[in-house]
Amino acid sequence: MSAEQMEKVIVIDFGGQYNQLVARRVRECQVYCEIYSYRTPLEKIREMNPKGIILTGGPNSVYLEGAATAPKELFELGIPVLGLCYGAQLMMHVLGGTVERAPEREYGKTSVTIDPVSCPLYEGLPSSMICWMSHNDYISRLAPGFEVTAHTDNCPVASAQCREKDLYAIQYHPEVLHTEYGKQILSHFVLDVCGCSGSWRMDDFADRQIEAIRRKVGDGKILCALSGGVDSSVAAVLLSKAVGKNLTCVFVDHGLLRKDEGDLVERVFGPEGPYDLNFIRVNAQDRFYARLAGETDPEQKRKIIGEEFIRVFEDVAHQIGKVDFLVQGTIYPDVVESGLGGESAVIKSHHNVGGLPDLVEFREIIEPLRDLFKDEVRKVGLHLGIPEELVMRQPFPGPGLGIRIIGDITAEKVKIVQDADAIFREEMKQAGLDQTASQYFAALTNVRSVGVMGDERTYDYAIALRSVNTVDFMTADVTEIPYSVLKRVMTRIVNEVDHVNRVFYDITSKPPGTIEYE
Ligand code: XMP
Repeated sequence: MSAEQMEKVIVIDFGGQYNQLVARRVRECQVYCEIYSYRTPLEKIREMNPKGIILTGGPNSVYLEGAATAPKELFELGIPVLGLCYGAQLMMHVLGGTVERAPEREYGKTSVTIDPVSCPLYEGLPSSMICWMSHNDYISRLAPGFEVTAHTDNCPVASAQCREKDLYAIQYHPEVLHTEYGKQILSHFVLDVCGCSGSWRMDDFADRQIEAIRRKVGDGKILCALSGGVDSSVAAVLLSKAVGKNLTCVFVDHGLLRKDEGDLVERVFGPEGPYDLNFIRVNAQDRFYARLAGETDPEQKRKIIGEEFIRVFEDVAHQIGKVDFLVQGTIYPDVVESGLGGESAVIKSHHNVGGLPDLVEFREIIEPLRDLFKDEVRKVGLHLGIPEELVMRQPFPGPGLGIRIIGDITAEKVKIVQDADAIFREEMKQAGLDQTASQYFAALTNVRSVGVMGDERTYDYAIALRSVNTVDFMTADVTEIPYSVLKRVMTRIVNEVDHVNRVFYDITSKPPGTIEYE
């Protein structure tokens, strides 16, 4: 069964900051879910035949001219609708209720009291719970046929329902983790109200996808640019299971990977590994180091790395000649971010395949992961037996260590940062911090200073350790690493890595810092 035929819930996006989060939470209930712009015509929604519709939050006020809206008929399709925040206000506004500016903005964790009416969303939940509120406007009068199901001290309608038509309005944000029981509330909506069976599973997805790829490509030739990252690795394994040796994976080692990473990729995907595919490793380290020699400007370094990547691929593309299909590891957030709501087929060109479509002659692009969120991609990867080291790895930028070495890049500096980084990662894992920190690594500052080692005076580099906790990578907090762990990392790095005599822990949040070091 393709994703189009799956039982699904659709999320209609009004521009709220949590739109993707809503869809992820629905998928966590094992229900397939897609995001569409509020501009999507009603006819198209009807054709999709969703089991339920969720309206997201949004930045506007429903009563302002030109505000994002929905037709009245959307609520008359006989399909259950859940409106969240702006979506709740819009439901009331469109159906004849009143929404006004609140005397005071309600923001943050708020105690919500559930009213003693029977509401399927609150089945089995306590009568009071902490919920996440973020609104300036409030529902001052319900639309006809609705009743209040919860309130707060400041907000008379924290939620409301019209049971007869299966319409539900929630002023707070059940999709945000700060809302206690948020997941249960959404689960009650999609499973109990909409009647979804909850059968969206990643092992089924993988099997269906392998079958679908096989049917689509026949005995066509497929080319995949493998970076060793999660998305391209999972895409490559799915394809190899579908077409075996008709798949060629090209892996460019630019010499800016983490310690032993190139060898790990080769162990997994190369001829000694478990998969049946053609694997080409291009050892282009020297080419990259030569092009980067003496360059200290961060933007120039990025540009050189990107360009050289394309040049290397150009050489390989000449050898490969015409292929039928080109693989891209596009995932659902790329689809949503490249044009609201998965309607647009804009392909975000990933750094590691940058420019490839222009170099190779091909018939069609295949994107086997374009319906999945990152955590779902990881589940598919684990199901396919890809080593955890690859599947669960933290984000690693395309330009690699090139943006973790301040100043010019040399093979010697790359080795220093690789060795220090490997120690830091080992110790973070040992301390169990790898489970919670979002991204952590060692970087090479361009600082050299006097130190003393034994009886010797040294003039060596300082390593900076960086570790952040973040949800969206747009802002980040520094990980609170216990002092004993930092001390052990410092001792090991200065003892085990040549040419390092100082270790710093960078405690700058983002902003004002960035996560990377360039
Ligand atoms: P910054 O340093 O901007 O990084 O705070 C935010 C996140 O983006 C990643 N990053 C990149 N990823 N190509 C990538 O694929 C890049 O050029 C790139 N630059 C930064 C960074 O690792 C962090 O997760």
